[in-house]
Amino acid sequence: MTIEKLKIYFAHNLEGLYPSEEIESFFFLLVEKHLNFSKVDTVLKKQYEVSERITQQFTEALNRLQHFEPIQYVLGKTEFYGLPFKVTPATLIPRPETEELVDWIIVNCNKNHRALLDIGTGSGCIAIALAKNLPAVKVSAMDISEEALKVASENAIYNKVTVNFSKKDILGTSTLPQKYDVIISNPPYVRNSEKEMMQKNVLDFEPASALFVEDDNPLLFYSKIAKLAKNYLNPNGFLFFEINEYLSKEVIQLLERESFSEIELKQDFFGKDRMIKCTLGE
Ligand SMILES: C[S@@+](CC[C@H](N)C(=O)[O-])C[C@H]1O[C@@H](n2cnc3c(N)ncnc32)[C@H](O)[C@@H]1O
Repeated sequence: MTIEKLKIYFAHNLEGLYPSEEIESFFFLLVEKHLNFSKVDTVLKKQYEVSERITQQFTEALNRLQHFEPIQYVLGKTEFYGLPFKVTPATLIPRPETEELVDWIIVNCNKNHRALLDIGTGSGCIAIALAKNLPAVKVSAMDISEEALKVASENAIYNKVTVNFSKKDILGTSTLPQKYDVIISNPPYVRNSEKEMMQKNVLDFEPASALFVEDDNPLLFYSKIAKLAKNYLNPNGFLFFEINEYLSKEVIQLLERESFSEIELKQDFFGKDRMIKCTLGE
């Protein structure tokens, strides 16, 4: 089959399930993955004969897209902060608002900040983007999921940075291996009751353990990490959190109770309360 015919077959099978521009964008991404053709190549080489094996791979991708599996999982990769990341169903797909958090951290880091810790690293996106952009800093990262840590380690190699990954259940510990200058976390923060507002492809495919918390204790990660940070943050160090847009007031109150100061709330690109920075002072 030619690329031209494959494109018609692909679009026909996804018609009505996605907007046509999205279907076209999926097609170009899959051609790039399986044939290593750029968008321009794809348009210019429309009479190129696609092998049986590649056609089969497109049929498999179609089947997954018809079930609304996120394109990032179908491709097995995504981009975060301009860097390539492998993603699997064991890892959350990194979100653009988390790129904004990384930006904020980079702006706030100075030469005195030498040791960083990312708690709940998932694909390793925050830790790796920071290691890449702050080469003088020693970056460590933790997650409860062994499978996620495996992907994160591959991503560190892929991006040519060193990150010290370790497996830890942050809720079940009262110690950290050392003190840090910056502690960051984008922990699970979506309340179970918010599930009905979420898209089906997130609910059906992304790891629930990375997203959801019980409605009666939605800040358990924030509370635990703030308590740990009180003992493991160096003087003048920073604690950064990504937060649930509906719970900013509650997170601020929690941090005040734990004696954090200079608490700063920041909105994301969509104007939603999305991240917090604070310190313990000197
Ligand atoms: C919202 S995801 C964030 C992933 C990644 N940092 C990002 O920004 O895309 C939360 C992460 O916390 C991890 N996690 C959940 N419970 C945990 C626990 N008790 N201890 C450590 N990590 C945990 C999940 O496996 C998941 O990777």
